[in-house]
Amino acid sequence: MNTNNIYLLGVGHATPLFIELAEACGYHVAGLYHYNEDRTGETDHGFPILGSFADLLREDLTDKNFCLTMGDMAIKQSVSLNLIHRGGVIPSLIHPTAVISRFADVSPCGVLVDSYCEIDSNATVEEGCVLRPHAMVSHDSHLFPYTFMGPKAYVGAYTDVESKAFIGQCSVLVSGKAKHIGKDALVGAGSVVVKPVSDKAIVAGNPARILKYKP
Ligand SMILES: CC(C)(COP(=O)(O)OP(=O)(O)OC[C@H]1O[C@@H](n2cnc3c(N)ncnc32)[C@H](O)[C@@H]1OP(=O)(O)O)[C@@H](O)C(=O)NCCC(=O)NCCS
Repeated sequence: MNTNNIYLLGVGHATPLFIELAEACGYHVAGLYHYNEDRTGETDHGFPILGSFADLLREDLTDKNFCLTMGDMAIKQSVSLNLIHRGGVIPSLIHPTAVISRFADVSPCGVLVDSYCEIDSNATVEEGCVLRPHAMVSHDSHLFPYTFMGPKAYVGAYTDVESKAFIGQCSVLVSGKAKHIGKDALVGAGSVVVKPVSDKAIVAGNPARILKYKP
């Protein structure tokens, strides 16, 4: 088995972003899996669509590498657990231009850190988190599983970001003020967050205000 092979799950507009990240990390993208069977046998961006998630979950996945590209973090978490249960490996992919402190703790499972990101000392990034280019996690902050940071989003120091929160592009969680972002919360693009945000709240603006809550 070629241990450099990796398979991507999810075929959509974000697929080429993750193809390039995997390649930058030294993997060979051996094929894609789509969420249903519609496109099996087609190609996307020159890569073969090998089958559906259901097809994949019938195979022996021992020691095969996977990268999950879907934006829905609840689906991503559940598919990840299934793959791991069947012996699959979901390596963290850290772009070579990212700067990760040796005192940071980044999970080896399914973390996707794109180009020019920074993760400071004593920061923790748990499994399944996604950091798009130039995202920054400042020191002593904690990203819980499956959180998402858009491009140039900035998590200030001493801030806990609970699982599946979404931190929009170019937003800033002000150090020592935002402190806690709740589960499934969403911070709008370009926002400046100066208070804790509760679970499922959607906040935006400068200073960020609550727009509504997710159902
Ligand atoms: C916050 C967000 C989810 C709101 O989307 P929405 O529910 O469709 O809301 P609407 O666009 O209808 O906007 C509702 C109000 O909030 C304002 N608003 C929306 N997004 C805003 C933002 N980021 N900052 C400030 N105000 C914002 C709108 O102007 C509107 O104000 P109004 O009622 O006075 O006209 C969305 O605008 C956003 O910022 N998404 C994040 C995108 C992102 O970062 N993606 C990452 C890609 S890698």
